[in-house]
Amino acid sequence: MKIAVINFSGNVGKTTVARHLLAPRIPDCQLVAVESINADEGPSVTIRGRQFAQLQEFLQGPDNAVIDIGASNVEELLRLMLRYRDSQEDFDVFVVPTVPARKQQQDTAATLEELARIGVPPARLRLLFNQVDDDDPLERSFETLLAYCAASRVVQPDPAIVLPYNEVYSLVRSSTRSLVELAGDATDYKAEIARAASRSEVLALAQRLALHRLARGVVPQLDACFTALRLALA
Ligand SMILES: Nc1ncnc2c1ncn2[C@@H]1O[C@H](COP(=O)(O)OP(=O)(O)O)[C@@H](O)[C@H]1O
Ligand SMILES: [Mg+2]
Repeated sequence: MKIAVINFSGNVGKTTVARHLLAPRIPDCQLVAVESINADEGPSVTIRGRQFAQLQEFLQGPDNAVIDIGASNVEELLRLMLRYRDSQEDFDVFVVPTVPARKQQQDTAATLEELARIGVPPARLRLLFNQVDDDDPLERSFETLLAYCAASRVVQPDPAIVLPYNEVYSLVRSSTRSLVELAGDATDYKAEIARAASRSEVLALAQRLALHRLARGVVPQLDACFTALRLALA
């Protein structure tokens, strides 16, 4: 199973989805950020001819891979996919995260339109509603995008493919541990706090406890969203 996480827009949760939703739930999964494929060229590399060939070579290797495609690369990538006929076939599924901000909804519609144009059928597309406000129905917060989907039929939106807004994602951004690991942490924080020698140690432990609790709250949401994606894993 090879999954592209893609959107013309930045800040829709591509990296979050790749790192915390997909990679930890797919066996022996390679996680690749397209920006880092040629790391010596700096953090925001544009994929061009030779590098795209590298990506295609890479995709022939592992059984399971998640490719986090940075916003700066998407247009170029789609152009290349169109030129290297049928190279979009290397991906089984395209996960397209989106958020309620109007600009991001418009960019998401443009992304879906492009994916359809290069030949990705609705069955291989998954629209993921991210940063959702539980108190605001999807029909209202994603009105623009849902209207586009209804008119174009490039994707069949599934309201179960959803991740609520949660501050834990920003807190774990620089952490090397996944939310699943943080949630599974068996440390007895209460006991450690009781033993702590200084105020600063108590504070540090309290922060770790808060993170552990937030992670435990969010893992069931990630599990449910992953199930709703209906990925046919071997
Ligand atoms: N469901 C969510 N709730 C709250 N914050 C989120 C959520 N998903 C992502 N974020 C935050 O939004 C920002 C952008 O997410 P990121 O995954 O880096 O997007 P992209 O890779 O598309 O640019 C990050 O700070 C991330 O922690
Ligand atoms: Mg990113």
